[in-house]
Amino acid sequence: MISMALTVVCLIRGENAEGQTKDPLLFPRDNYALETRTVKTVAGEKKVIYHAYRHIPYVANPVNKDYQSLNVMVPVEIDGKAIDAENAPIFFEIGVGGYMSVKNADGGTGGRQGGSSRSDVALAAGYVIVSPGCRGRDNKADDGTYYGKAPAAIVDLKAAVRYIRHNRGVMPGNTDRIVSVGCSAGGALSALLGSSGNSPLYEPYLKEIGAADAADHIFASACYSPITDLEHADGAYEWMFGSVPTRSGLVDQELSNQLKASYATYQKSLNTRGKNGFGILSADNYDKYLLQYFLVPSANKYLNELSDNARTAYLATNTWIKWTDHGAEFAFADYAMHIGRMKGLPAFDDFNRKQPEPELFGNTTTAARHFTNFSLRHSTGDQHSEIDNDLKTIVNMMNAMYFIGQNNRDCAAAWWLRNGSSDNHTSQTVMVNLVTSLENMDKEVNAWVFWDGGHCADDDPEGLITWIGAVTGFTK
Ligand code: DHB
Repeated sequence: MISMALTVVCLIRGENAEGQTKDPLLFPRDNYALETRTVKTVAGEKKVIYHAYRHIPYVANPVNKDYQSLNVMVPVEIDGKAIDAENAPIFFEIGVGGYMSVKNADGGTGGRQGGSSRSDVALAAGYVIVSPGCRGRDNKADDGTYYGKAPAAIVDLKAAVRYIRHNRGVMPGNTDRIVSVGCSAGGALSALLGSSGNSPLYEPYLKEIGAADAADHIFASACYSPITDLEHADGAYEWMFGSVPTRSGLVDQELSNQLKASYATYQKSLNTRGKNGFGILSADNYDKYLLQYFLVPSANKYLNELSDNARTAYLATNTWIKWTDHGAEFAFADYAMHIGRMKGLPAFDDFNRKQPEPELFGNTTTAARHFTNFSLRHSTGDQHSEIDNDLKTIVNMMNAMYFIGQNNRDCAAAWWLRNGSSDNHTSQTVMVNLVTSLENMDKEVNAWVFWDGGHCADDDPEGLITWIGAVTGFTK
């Protein structure tokens, strides 16, 4: 009876029986469900038994814990063999698509996470899987205000990383080997998490939601079709697709050329050095660079792996590709025409503010805002209007390239970057700028473009898992 009374008093005070304050961010290690999953891998099917933890809030003052919570899977047995995951890499799966929120409530997983072949293969490799929910541009409170506009998603993901690190030694997994993974907007957030480690810019936002007082850098970042560098993406899109008609014809060529010119200036300012003495990448030589180091090698791998008959048939329907003694040859303009243009002009900061990105940059009371001077000036008709400084800071806080440009000290050491050659959601230069600037920083970079792959293409989920094993040095 006395002990029950003590418990009640302690619970009211938020203390345990010893009078210490309870840690609201303590990982509930013993509170799991035992589950089994059969995973198809290159080495055959694997039966994985794991501890599942669901809907664990990762901040002390959540705005909405249905989003600011995470799931964890800890493998304990693979094909009848006991597994010790205490020191395993932590596969941090970002499920964001379209800069929308990821709901983590109801035992389910929102966004693109959950059941992805990549995370299943990671689990079957003995890795710990963490799937965080997070806020997004769609979150709206009952009073009509928005609570998931930029930078909420990256703030939440950082808070989730801090939660993991805060629980070092309590939650299984090696907190020095956190690897984020995501595609598209999720790929951009993965790149941002990788590049912006421990940046003080996010500190007030993290404090506000009661994030753990811990570091938020990660070891490695995997990014599929990253839709990053948003404020420069309109120009890059015109560079690649300006002469390619949409279904309703060519976009306004004067505006397209203006955007293209702004891209050329930006590209020059990056001062990124291409491989093997290629020189500084520019609007003038980037087509050649993409062909030489990404597109032709990708086409060659694809075509070489086809049977003679299949290759002949492929080339007969793709007459823009010439098959020579040295492999594939084609012109960049023909390649761009082959993929086709998907978006209008401007592709991201569109004049009607209907694209995901102006919505991402809304605020609590505004659904969507322009985030480039180009579109703001066009919309207002005032050639002197400027994006305000607060918004500029938020735009930077959403851009991996910003932190790379700042040489942020706690940038991830290892990077896996992938795109589909037929992805027309953003310019191919966006990912390759990431690749090249990270190479210029001497990071461990593994990049590839999947031939004829679309947005978020992944022809090689096991490749990532093997690479994580290699860069983390983890063996089961
Ligand atoms: C995504 C796709 C887009 O075209 C875009 O502009 C932003 C995000 C996505 O698939 O996540």
